[in-house]
Amino acid sequence: MGKKIGILTGGGDCPGLNAVIRAVTRCCVYDYGWEVIGFKDGYRGLVMNDYMPLTYDNVSGLLDRGGTILGTSNRDNPFHFRCQNADGSVEYRDMSSQVMENLQREGVDALITIGGDGTQTAAYDFSKMGLPVVGVPKTIDNDLYGTDMTFGFQTAVNTATEALDALHSTAESHHRLMILEVMGRYAGWIALTAGMAGGADVILIPELAYDPAHIVEAIMRRRKSGRHYSILVVSEGVKQTNGSLVVRNVIEDSPDKIRLGGVGMVLADQLEEITGIEARAMVLGHLQRGGRTIPFDRILATRFGAAAAAALKQGQSGVMMALQGRDIVSVPLSEVAGRQRLVPLDDPLIEIGRSIGVSFGD
Ligand code: F6P
Repeated sequence: MGKKIGILTGGGDCPGLNAVIRAVTRCCVYDYGWEVIGFKDGYRGLVMNDYMPLTYDNVSGLLDRGGTILGTSNRDNPFHFRCQNADGSVEYRDMSSQVMENLQREGVDALITIGGDGTQTAAYDFSKMGLPVVGVPKTIDNDLYGTDMTFGFQTAVNTATEALDALHSTAESHHRLMILEVMGRYAGWIALTAGMAGGADVILIPELAYDPAHIVEAIMRRRKSGRHYSILVVSEGVKQTNGSLVVRNVIEDSPDKIRLGGVGMVLADQLEEITGIEARAMVLGHLQRGGRTIPFDRILATRFGAAAAAALKQGQSGVMMALQGRDIVSVPLSEVAGRQRLVPLDDPLIEIGRSIGVSFGD
């Protein structure tokens, strides 16, 4: 019997989302003879029953394209959904029964949720309500529990590494401290990986609180050996040993209310004051989420998409696709929901960094 599958992309956008949409659609339509529809703007589309048909042809040309043709939202939680009343007042309602009704009316048999922890936590809650759901792990932050890697991460690392490469010459010419602030929320995967690939002298990650005195030591050691500039990469979620997170703003109706950002500038002021060396900070920001998807992520996204469709064909539900070693496997959403995968303190890249003289500020 032909099935009808719904897809949505939730949370912040990420390189490779379109490649997953393409793979799921083509696998379902071409290989299984199923029908596919895409809900718009994440869970908002499910609540509002706003969708578009996805066909073999209309997912053409998407492999390298950043963003998501379906749109996304990192605000809309269907279990705590912002509704505006006729008098203008706002209240939050559980719209999950509305979603289940919409899906039943449209004849949707199963859902594929492409997203990060917020999206997969809601997916798990729908699976508990009896909806067949398969998740696909997305985020540039690489902080999703249960998978060795999320798609989009390597493209973000590529962008951050190119930025570090470009900052070297200007740092060297002006004998300055150049600080690159990268995304990653509470996980330091982007900073650690791009920092090592881009030859940063100091790498600061949220998992290791930093002491400015230790950073200064590393900078002065370089100066003594004749290198009058230093490159620092700092993850937006880092904390000073005696300090707190630098929060840019708070978005009340978002599943993850805190928006980080600005620690690079704080650090630049701090280091300039202590060392007397000119320091400049650059926030790489959303450039990390855009641009062309690199081949690694196109392949990983395609593998995840095809595996998600296959999992539904095999009758699996309440699972998320995951990369473990070289294999794509299914992990229960119950294990993924509400958890984060941080950089372990004994990560080999940290050990190698330390052995070649990189400072982690700790
Ligand atoms: O989770 C992806 C991410 O890009 C984080 O690295 C960053 O902290 C956050 O989203 C930014 O969110 P927004 O797009 O709402 O500013």
